[in-house]
Amino acid sequence: MADPWVRKVVIGSCELYLGDCLEVMPSLGSVDHFMMDPPYEEITHTAKSKGGARRDMRADGRKELQELDFAPIDEIRGRVVELGTQCDGWFIAFCTPEGVRPWADEINASPMKYKRACTWIKPDSPPQFNGQGPASGFENFVCAWAGKGHSRWNAGGKRGVYTEMVSPKDRTGGHPTEKPWRLMRELLFDFTRPGDLVADPFAGSGTTLVAAALTGRRAIGIEQNPEYFSLACRRVRKAVLSVQQLGADLLPCVQGDMFQEVEAYG
Ligand SMILES: C[S@@+](CC[C@H](N)C(=O)[O-])C[C@H]1O[C@@H](n2cnc3c(N)ncnc32)[C@H](O)[C@@H]1O
Repeated sequence: MADPWVRKVVIGSCELYLGDCLEVMPSLGSVDHFMMDPPYEEITHTAKSKGGARRDMRADGRKELQELDFAPIDEIRGRVVELGTQCDGWFIAFCTPEGVRPWADEINASPMKYKRACTWIKPDSPPQFNGQGPASGFENFVCAWAGKGHSRWNAGGKRGVYTEMVSPKDRTGGHPTEKPWRLMRELLFDFTRPGDLVADPFAGSGTTLVAAALTGRRAIGIEQNPEYFSLACRRVRKAVLSVQQLGADLLPCVQGDMFQEVEAYG
């Protein structure tokens, strides 16, 4: 039988697949965690896709949002939650504040244990240019435990609130919704352990895999758009190469020293 992916590229301990995650993921067996940044809910998607002249400006004045060229999550959310049966650790999915409820409903109807919605605060998010209401300054991610017994996390009593710039200097800008790699790195430190296998079925420009390479996690990424897939391969290659070059110097970072900074991975 033919492979359900169009292309597979292995870089270090990261595997990247070009294809539809709903077809590819079931053939890949089990993983430790899902850490995904799926398309937004329809309402936000439409607003961003039909952005007005000023809505596509970043806080630093550079152009941010290209038109979103992928479909909203709504129709496939249930099938994505079903993928949770393939992992026995955390199932983490980014969403808009409006998306928390539908994600929680789907997760609560599945075997997973819904934990809560966490928040990513964006200090550099753009203001509401038309001045007709408050600007949006954060995004959420829902987390659920798919394993047996008690859930496991590494951050003690820490709150599920993360603060990270949307547009740091090293943002590539090659993907309209690129996540900051430092944010994904912090999530990997808090939710996973070195050597764990983490899957991102909506890999985009590969930020989760970049963060995984930098923190000693193994990763699987699936992306359906060939342009974003190539960008992801380039970024992951750069991260894996840097890790190989830095070697022992990177160890404090892999172990979770928040104050240890490494080279930029844009
Ligand atoms: C929100 S973006 C992820 C951005 C990513 N976190 C980054 O930092 O670049 C969602 C991505 O999922 C991809 N996508 C949408 N539906 C998909 C599917 N069924 N299978 C695989 N990829 C899909 C889109 O092409 C898009 O690149």
